[in-house]
Amino acid sequence: MSVMRLLESVHGHMGVLAAVALLHPAILMRKGKSLSKRTVLSVWLTAMVVVSTFATGLVIYPAYRQSVRADLFRESVTAGFLFETKEHVAYAVVALTVGATVAALSAPKDARRPRQVAALLFALAAAVCLFTVGIGSYLVAVRDFP
Ligand code: HEM
Repeated sequence: MSVMRLLESVHGHMGVLAAVALLHPAILMRKGKSLSKRTVLSVWLTAMVVVSTFATGLVIYPAYRQSVRADLFRESVTAGFLFETKEHVAYAVVALTVGATVAALSAPKDARRPRQVAALLFALAAAVCLFTVGIGSYLVAVRDFP
């Protein structure tokens, strides 16, 4: 197994973990109660998993672009465009997560609404992340690193 394949697999597993992790703060904050230490930890860890998934994606991207992307398009134009879609959707996952994290951590103690909005954003990020995982897993089956 090449280093890039290994890194790609680590990236994929982190993506699945991120999709599940995003549900945790969404559930914990759904009622908008002030944050316990455990909820704060959950918010930080979730943000870290999402950002790390995104960062490992950026690390494998140049090698993928050089040695796989053109073949993927030759194999299937739909798959090629799905890859492009996945990259853009991944940005939405990070944007939603960062927004939810800031809203959750900066909300005043007695304000429930911002935490409920944060919970909603985390839930939305989880759904979009799951969609991203689905596309990524499909594309690996179509064409992968040699
Ligand atoms: C939260 C965001 C992301 C999630 C959840 C995610 C998820 C995944 C998953 C599940 C795979 C399949 C890995 C495997 O089965 O071995 C994958 C592959 C890949 N990811 Fe990501 N990814 C994300 C962001 C990114 C970003 C930002 C980039 C680069 C700009 C990237 C680049 C790649 C590449 C090049 C592959 C291999 C081709 C493919 O299957 O799409 N990913 N990703």
